[in-house]
Amino acid sequence: MVDDLEALGHGRDDNLAGRLSASMRNVELKARDPDPARSLERSLALGAEDQGEIRQRDTYFAGARGRIKLREQDPGEDELIQYSRENSADARTSSYRRVPTGEADALRAALDDAYGTLVTVTKRRRLLLWEGVRIHLDEVEGLGSYLEFEAVAEAGPDSDLSAERDRVERLRAELGIDDGDLIATSYSDLLLRRAHPGRSAPDDARAADDLMRAADEVMRTAYVPYSHFPVGAALRAPDGSIHVGSNVENASYPQGQCAETSATGALIAAGHTLIAEVAVTAERMDICPPCGGCRQRLAEFASADTLVHLGRPDGPRETTTVGELLPLAFELDPPA
Ligand code: THU
Repeated sequence: MVDDLEALGHGRDDNLAGRLSASMRNVELKARDPDPARSLERSLALGAEDQGEIRQRDTYFAGARGRIKLREQDPGEDELIQYSRENSADARTSSYRRVPTGEADALRAALDDAYGTLVTVTKRRRLLLWEGVRIHLDEVEGLGSYLEFEAVAEAGPDSDLSAERDRVERLRAELGIDDGDLIATSYSDLLLRRAHPGRSAPDDARAADDLMRAADEVMRTAYVPYSHFPVGAALRAPDGSIHVGSNVENASYPQGQCAETSATGALIAAGHTLIAEVAVTAERMDICPPCGGCRQRLAEFASADTLVHLGRPDGPRETTTVGELLPLAFELDPPA
């Protein structure tokens, strides 16, 4: 996401300040890395230059359009990075601004007070350079090993970035990256999705069980004199807290609301704006998929790979994601 070249004092650029604050674009690809030693070996065999290791801590702040994070790094200068990008597993483009800062502690405290901190991502990054593409071999705390390619756009804003895309595709082939290992989201989203950074697989299963039990419990409160079809929904916020809701019907049928909608209202009323994990249960249906309207409501506060558990506490269970339930979700940036 950031030009580590400057961080390491390589590739000095006379117009650095201008480039840093201007909006820039790059083509990126991210994947799980089952064998970082092999990736390093193959990168070096291709002639990539090894630029050494950087320790980075990124603090992501809430309430932003797109993303804003403070990057503290060693070696290198601290900086505020603002960016937006599409969530797609294939090579994608991202535009970003980098603002150097000498006051990381004060800035972190100010932004935390104003907006709240979403999540912190700490990693050890091995940086290599190959034909203008940065190769990141990342060890991310609580997540594991990943690799990332970033080709910074050299051409102007009208370029279709095909040259950058070609180089990223070539690296993907040379390093033998499995399609199944590609990931569409950021480390921050992966950590947020887990609700508790560093949660292990068994802990993940336990957390899903807890959420499903909460959904089952609140289902008992459903007000369903017309359909007799009780539903319960439980949403986990990024801080681990659980917010629940049941369906509430009305004599004027269209005024009724689904359990997912009630739960979303509860999460918002508790001061959250992000959904990290979802569970839905219905007494009279083994797997109760959220209705179309609720998929859109969940998508407003979740990310495409937020997990959605459908089923019963001790019965059948199907786990899907918000993105699978609602591909091509409608999105609109709030007006400034
Ligand atoms: N319902 C939900 O609460 N959630 C769903 O995902 C599907 C449907 C409710 C609406 C209505 O009260 C009842 O189930 C029957 O449609």
